[in-house]
Amino acid sequence: MLWTKEQRYRRIEDASQEEIRNLKKVVKSCRWRQSYHIQPETGLLNDPNGFSYFNGEYHLFYQWFPLGPVHGLKYWYHTKSKDLVHWENAGIAIEPTNQYDSHGVYSGSAIEHEGRLYLLYTGNTRDENWVRHPYQCLAVMNERDEIKKLETPVIASVPNGYTDHFRDPKIWKEGSLFHAIIGAQRENETGCVVLYSSTDLVNWNFKGEINTNLKEFGYMWECPDYLELDNQGILIFCPQGIKPEGDHFYNIYQSGYIMGDKMDKNKMTMVHDAFQELDRGFDFYAPQTMTGPDGRRILVGWMGLPDIEYPTDKNGWAHCLTVPRELSIWNGKLIQQPVKELESLRRKRQDINEVLDHETKVFDEFSGTAFEMICKFVNFDSSEFGVEFRAGEKEKTVIKYDAMEKKVVLDRTFSGEPVAEEYGTVRKCYLDAQSIEFHMYVDTSSVEIFVNNGEEVFTSRIFPEIQSQEIRFFSNGKTLFQATKWDYKG
Ligand code: FRU
Repeated sequence: MLWTKEQRYRRIEDASQEEIRNLKKVVKSCRWRQSYHIQPETGLLNDPNGFSYFNGEYHLFYQWFPLGPVHGLKYWYHTKSKDLVHWENAGIAIEPTNQYDSHGVYSGSAIEHEGRLYLLYTGNTRDENWVRHPYQCLAVMNERDEIKKLETPVIASVPNGYTDHFRDPKIWKEGSLFHAIIGAQRENETGCVVLYSSTDLVNWNFKGEINTNLKEFGYMWECPDYLELDNQGILIFCPQGIKPEGDHFYNIYQSGYIMGDKMDKNKMTMVHDAFQELDRGFDFYAPQTMTGPDGRRILVGWMGLPDIEYPTDKNGWAHCLTVPRELSIWNGKLIQQPVKELESLRRKRQDINEVLDHETKVFDEFSGTAFEMICKFVNFDSSEFGVEFRAGEKEKTVIKYDAMEKKVVLDRTFSGEPVAEEYGTVRKCYLDAQSIEFHMYVDTSSVEIFVNNGEEVFTSRIFPEIQSQEIRFFSNGKTLFQATKWDYKG
């Protein structure tokens, strides 16, 4: 279906009760609704926003267009949780209401200050010629989850040298000073990030651009984030316009990080290593991190990408968020591991300890549509081994290790209903290791695979038939393997 501008920019109250009821009905009848991931009740979800801990709970907002599976007029939707696992829908948090956010309450972040949660976001507007004018706006949430917008933007213009692609502020605090980085496009149409500082979250000073080695690296950097771990600085961002290279950058847009010395806010520079992708799967974008009350750094991403159609579109909804991941640094590498709280979803457990000898094997009760599974392979002499899951007569999703090339391979060629095949159906990632562990989170229409304790992650949507539930283990030589699987509560 083609959506006109008028249809995309409708507000939720422009839809009749009946329209919403019907929309909910088609969404409900979708065979790909998730069982333990955050997903929209109707319409389209994209970036996680305002991820924070406030008043004894985790708060996670997301970009939302309620009325269909398209990027229309965006709201912030509010979810909250005591344990990062069970999320409660708390309703619309910020809606577009005025001339500073008339065409969408775009992405941003949150920080606690003096007993309130401050939400800094980009107000997206378009003028009569459809020219974009972004504003950075502030809203404040009290302990009863009531949110009030400031009447005027806190950053009302784009600094000289940058275009109207200027959005997605991410706030953090150092000492008594607040900082915010914003994704920007230079006038020569290359992407970068700029820094602002503030003592009160209301008055912001433009500090300038953060100088990196990436002078010409795509045409726009969306959704930046900055964090420090183990005395290293990590700048996360989503560059658009990067060409595929080797096994890298096959998704429509990228999401990754540069790591190195801490950001030098006097010299406005970051000395860093090469850009690394955060995720090696097909569907991952716009991640955001927060610091939990126990000091853990936790990341959540959007399990989707802009400008791509998905099979759930015909059921009136699109996308979900990833499970939360804890970040750490090990051997100079950023490691991502599923948060331990997810263990509370575990139900019935099954174990196997076997040798695979030139064969593909199935085991009783190793099947399903929503489960967690850890499988460890110790290779003796095979050049390829791995797992087929969500498998049936015609369908299978495959995660395997190619020991000749030393690559982990995710293949969704036969996963079910195709998605964005023009960007390829196989993803590969170099990993030199003697033993391989796949820690998998499978839900009705997704998989997140943490390889070797989070050295690499493959995140993807898949759209198989409900009957495709088999799990098969294979090796073309001799491989020792152990697997533990837990059913997940639906
Ligand atoms: C990234 C993004 C952001 C923007 C938001 C709008 O997916 O394009 O740059 O703020 O989505 O929904």
